[in-house]
Amino acid sequence: MKVLVVGSGGREHAICWKFAQSPNVEKIYCAPRNGGISQVAQNVNISVEDFKGLAGFVKENNIDFTFVGPEVPLSLGIVDYFKENGLKIIGPSKDGARLESSKIYSKEFMNKYGIHTAQYNSFSNIESALKFLANWQENKKVVVKADGLAAGKGVYVCNGREDAINAVKQMMNEKALGNAGANVIIEDYIDGPELSYLIFTDGKTYSLMPASQDHKRINDNDEGPNTGGMGAYAPAPLATNELNKKVEDTIIKKVIDGIKSEELDYKGVLYVGVIMNGSIPYVLEFNCRFGDPETQTVLPLLDTDFVDICEAILNTNLADLKISWKKEFSVCVVLASGGYPGSFKKGFEINGLENIRDAMVFHAGTKLENGKFVTSGGRVLGVVSTSPDIKSAIDKVYSNVSMINFDGVHYRKDIGWRALNGKQN
Ligand code: GLY
Repeated sequence: MKVLVVGSGGREHAICWKFAQSPNVEKIYCAPRNGGISQVAQNVNISVEDFKGLAGFVKENNIDFTFVGPEVPLSLGIVDYFKENGLKIIGPSKDGARLESSKIYSKEFMNKYGIHTAQYNSFSNIESALKFLANWQENKKVVVKADGLAAGKGVYVCNGREDAINAVKQMMNEKALGNAGANVIIEDYIDGPELSYLIFTDGKTYSLMPASQDHKRINDNDEGPNTGGMGAYAPAPLATNELNKKVEDTIIKKVIDGIKSEELDYKGVLYVGVIMNGSIPYVLEFNCRFGDPETQTVLPLLDTDFVDICEAILNTNLADLKISWKKEFSVCVVLASGGYPGSFKKGFEINGLENIRDAMVFHAGTKLENGKFVTSGGRVLGVVSTSPDIKSAIDKVYSNVSMINFDGVHYRKDIGWRALNGKQN
């Protein structure tokens, strides 16, 4: 069997790595390039937005199915295009991807299907947004969200009225996020621990993956600016059986009902970002794909052949497949370029990869130059270890991280600290 993975980050490296473990897979292609992915997949130099080019490549190479990693091609309709051309592909249609690509649509969906989420108002012109904020308390926290896709930069947590007014002006007037901020949501701020619940779904039923916790801030103790994610661990101890059941009953089952009622063509992965509001799980966001770095954390725990899962999704018989997970903990630490998430330099040689023992290294922003890996992005590598207990998974991953070096390397030293300290937020 031949598969194509679309995307070029750490998430896609983890997906390719998982496919490579399947005895059913003879060849993996990945479009477009990333230095490290070439260890397990053949690089295909076609952009994720070039649907015609990708579909042509799939036909020429008799590829059995395509798996889409990132949200942008999904939101632009890659699944619809492939299906119109008779090709098998895993991911939601353009309509299904609106659960991520329009925050206003996803809020309306949640309200329609009775899913807990923060109170909000949506605005399509700046005058009404500013009029609404004029009555907001001076020092009451509030969240301003761009409606469209903004590469993880579309959520501003504001300390009060002035801050929120500035956020709205930046998005709607100054177009800081381009068209993504043309419409905005202003929503109540909720303070609580967050969890990432990912499910496989064939659009009719679902299967829950172990819940993980991401670490979004750049520095230890959750300080500094937000990033795409500096590390994650799974399963998060906060996600007890009782909480998982509550999330399934009050969120996941309702989402699947909503997908069916709205007749959305949704086959793939749905990421439900949850925040605890007291004892009640609220949805912060939906993503129409695997998370990054959650995927690098969770896939090493998967025991079932990934191809079996993909076939069950494609054939809409996920309900008949028992998916099993290792009874272990997994910890992923992201190594980033110095300066990230602000500006950073690229092209530094990455040393020490040959010293890795008992860990996976997923490449996010690397290139191969003269046979050596060099940095080429903000998040450069994700190092992952698993172990039957969380402490030894953390120790193991950090002893491997300490082997790797490049100029300006930055990583958090406290990934998994909540689980170690028995803390949940
Ligand atoms: N880790 C957050 C995301 O994948 O969107």
